[in-house]
Amino acid sequence: MASLWSMLPTLVLIAILQPQGSLADADTLQDFCVKIPTPAVHVNGFQCKDPAQVEASDFTSTVLKNPGNTSNGLGAAVTPANALTFPGLNTQGMSAARIDLANGGLNPPHFHPRATELLYLAQGTLLVGFVTSTSENQLYALKINAGELFVFPKGLVHFQLNLGPGPALAFSSFNSQNAGTSQAAKALFVSNPIINDVVLEKALQLSAAEVQRLRALISKI
Ligand SMILES: *[C@@H]1O[C@H](CO)[C@@H](O)[C@H](O)[C@H]1NC(C)=O
Repeated sequence: MASLWSMLPTLVLIAILQPQGSLADADTLQDFCVKIPTPAVHVNGFQCKDPAQVEASDFTSTVLKNPGNTSNGLGAAVTPANALTFPGLNTQGMSAARIDLANGGLNPPHFHPRATELLYLAQGTLLVGFVTSTSENQLYALKINAGELFVFPKGLVHFQLNLGPGPALAFSSFNSQNAGTSQAAKALFVSNPIINDVVLEKALQLSAAEVQRLRALISKI
């Protein structure tokens, strides 16, 4: 039987030849995939249509064709073209979105747990920025004009504010079929069911009345 020492060069070689990433779990394609006790069909993502039934039209979509409705408290509408709204994207590892912003409109601080976002500004002028996950919470923000790109690194809190004048239109691509969006204000104040007030009072150093006031305001946007 080979000793551990004699096998060491082989083990090192195997480790070196392993492709990057193959030593970790595959990235998840949805928020969670709870294991069920009895065997049944369950996949990471969505099941595939029978290839015999697939048509060219499965690979096109009109979901980004029309402007979103920005008549809301934020003056913003984000329309996703992902595996949920455009089935042809299932398993392709990418998706897109259309971002319409009224004059002064804001896509509020949020993050995508599963994707980097590459934004192309088609019309208008935006203040865009993201905050790092380091203890410094470094903000990288600047003004971009039509025709310019900005990249929001995966999982970092970011925002887009339309500096005007007039509406702004941007298109974003994501390196996930289902990037996911967690909006900071909504996740904290209007989760379902709501987070215990004491948690928010302590975390944000607010009074009970201030938490109530913010929850009421944020529930309307
Ligand atoms: C946009 O949303 C507002 C508020 O919900 C609504 O009153 C309005 O009819 C909508 N406009 C269109 C074109 O759907």
